[in-house]
Amino acid sequence: MANVTVVGAQWGDEGKGKIVDWLSNRADVVVRFQGGHNAGHTLVVGDKTYKLSLLPSGVVQGKPSVIGNGVVVDPWALLSEIDKIRGQGVDITPQILILADNACLILPMHRDLDGAREAAAGAAKIGTTGRGIGPAYEDKVGRRAIRVADLNDPEALKLKIERLLAHHGALRKGLGLPDFDGEALLAELLQIAPKILAYAKPAWRVLDAAVKDGSRVLFEGAQGALLDVDHGTYPYVTSSNTVAGQAAAGSGLGPRSTGYVLGIVKAYTTRVGEGPFPSELHDDNGRRLGERGHEFGTVTGRPRRCGWFDAALVRQSVSVNGIDGVALTKLDVLDGFTELKIGVGYTLDGAAYDYLPAGLKAQSGLKPVWETLEGWSQSTRGARSWRDLPAAAIKYVRRIEELIGAPVALLSTSPERDDTILMRDPFADR
Ligand code: GDP
Ligand code: IMO
Ligand code: MG
Repeated sequence: MANVTVVGAQWGDEGKGKIVDWLSNRADVVVRFQGGHNAGHTLVVGDKTYKLSLLPSGVVQGKPSVIGNGVVVDPWALLSEIDKIRGQGVDITPQILILADNACLILPMHRDLDGAREAAAGAAKIGTTGRGIGPAYEDKVGRRAIRVADLNDPEALKLKIERLLAHHGALRKGLGLPDFDGEALLAELLQIAPKILAYAKPAWRVLDAAVKDGSRVLFEGAQGALLDVDHGTYPYVTSSNTVAGQAAAGSGLGPRSTGYVLGIVKAYTTRVGEGPFPSELHDDNGRRLGERGHEFGTVTGRPRRCGWFDAALVRQSVSVNGIDGVALTKLDVLDGFTELKIGVGYTLDGAAYDYLPAGLKAQSGLKPVWETLEGWSQSTRGARSWRDLPAAAIKYVRRIEELIGAPVALLSTSPERDDTILMRDPFADR
C-alpha cells in the first residue's frame, strides 16, 4: 500500500510541515489525524512562508486535505486560518478542504480552563500552548463534547451546551473564573455554523473511497512521540496520541492503511514548554543551536530549549511508532561546530539505561552518555545532493542511522521546499 504516515520523532517542531509539503507532490490526499491548533507547521516556498496550525500542509500544493476525526477543532481558529492562507494566494474550497463531521470542537471554555489551570499550577505548569487542547480532549472522552455535526441541529446544540456548562460551571467556580454565557455561545456558534458546515463531510467515507480508488494517502502528524499522552514524558505531554498508530483511528481508515512510517527527526534536539530533557544544553552550544536554528515556537513565539541529538530517545521513538525510515532535518544548523555530541544512552544513580524509563523522577535525573563526533566547517545549507556533503557530515548521518536503527530516507538542508535530498522514496519503498 503506497501510503505514508509522517510523525514527529522527538518533542515536535522537527520540520514535519516542510516534509509533508514536499511529499504532497507525490500524494493524492493529505490527512491530519490528531492534535489541533497547538501545532505550528512552517513551509517555505520561494519567497513565501506559510504557517499552518490546523490546515493540513497539503493545501499549499492544492491537494485534497482532510481534518480527521482525531483532531480537535477550534472553529474560529479554523476560519481565520483559512482567511489568512487564502490571503497568501492559496485556494481553499470545500473541494480542497474536508472537515470530519465527527471531529470535536474546541470552545472558549476550553481555552479558559487551559489558561486558568496553567496559572494555578505555578512552577508545576506544563507550558501548554494555551489553545484549550487538553480540556477539549477531556470533554471528548467524557462524552460531552460538541462535534462538528452538532452545528447542524440548533435544538440539540442548545441542550449540549447546557450539559457542557453543567460540567464546566463547577470547574470554573473552583478556579475563580466567571460564569460562562451559554446563550451567547449558542448564538456565536449558529452564526459561524454555515461557514464550518460547508467543509463538513463523513471524512472516513471520502478516505475509504480514495483508498479503494488507488489514491495515495499522506498522513500528517502533529507534535512528536515524546509529547504522546502515553509514550511521552507524562504529564509534560499533549493530550492526544501522536504516534503513527493514531493515524488510522484519527482518520477512520484501518490500521494497514498507514503504510510507510516516516519519522521526522531534527539533527539535534529541541523542546518547547516544561518537562524532562536529558540532552539539554545550558551553554554556548545550546544558545548557538537556538540562534542558528531560529528555534522559536511558531504558535507561541517562545524560545525552544536546545540540546545535542539524543539517539536513545529517537531509537525509542522508532519502536513506538514503527518507523520505517526518517527524514533528517536541519543538518545545516550544525555547520561550523568543531565537534558534535550524540547521546547514546543514559545513566541514573550508576545504572545504565538504553531507553527513557517511564517515571518522571527517573526521566528528570537521567544523565546522557555522550559520544563525540568530528564537526565540519563547510556549509551544507541548501545542499541538494548527497555528494555535496562534507565527509564528516556523512559520518554524522551514518552514525545516527546506526544508533536509531532506521535509515535516512530524506535529508533536509534548509527551510526551503526544494533543499531536500531524496535517498529513498517513502511512497515507493514498500
Ligand atoms: P513542525 O512543527 O515539525 O512542522 O516544525 P516547525 O515548522 O514548527 O519548525 C521547524 C522550523 O525549521 C521551521 O521554521 C522550518 O522552516 C525550519 N526548517 C525545516 N527544515 C529545515 C532545515 O533543514 N534547515 C533549516 N535551517 N531549517 C529548517
Ligand atoms: P508541532 O506540530 C512542539 C507542547 C507544548 C507543551 C505540551 C502541551 O508544531 O510539532 P498543549 O497545548 O498541546 O496542551 O501543550 O506540548 N506542544 C508542542 N511542542 N511542537 C508542537 O506541535 C506542539 N504542540 C504542543 O509546548 O509543552
Ligand atoms: Mg511546529
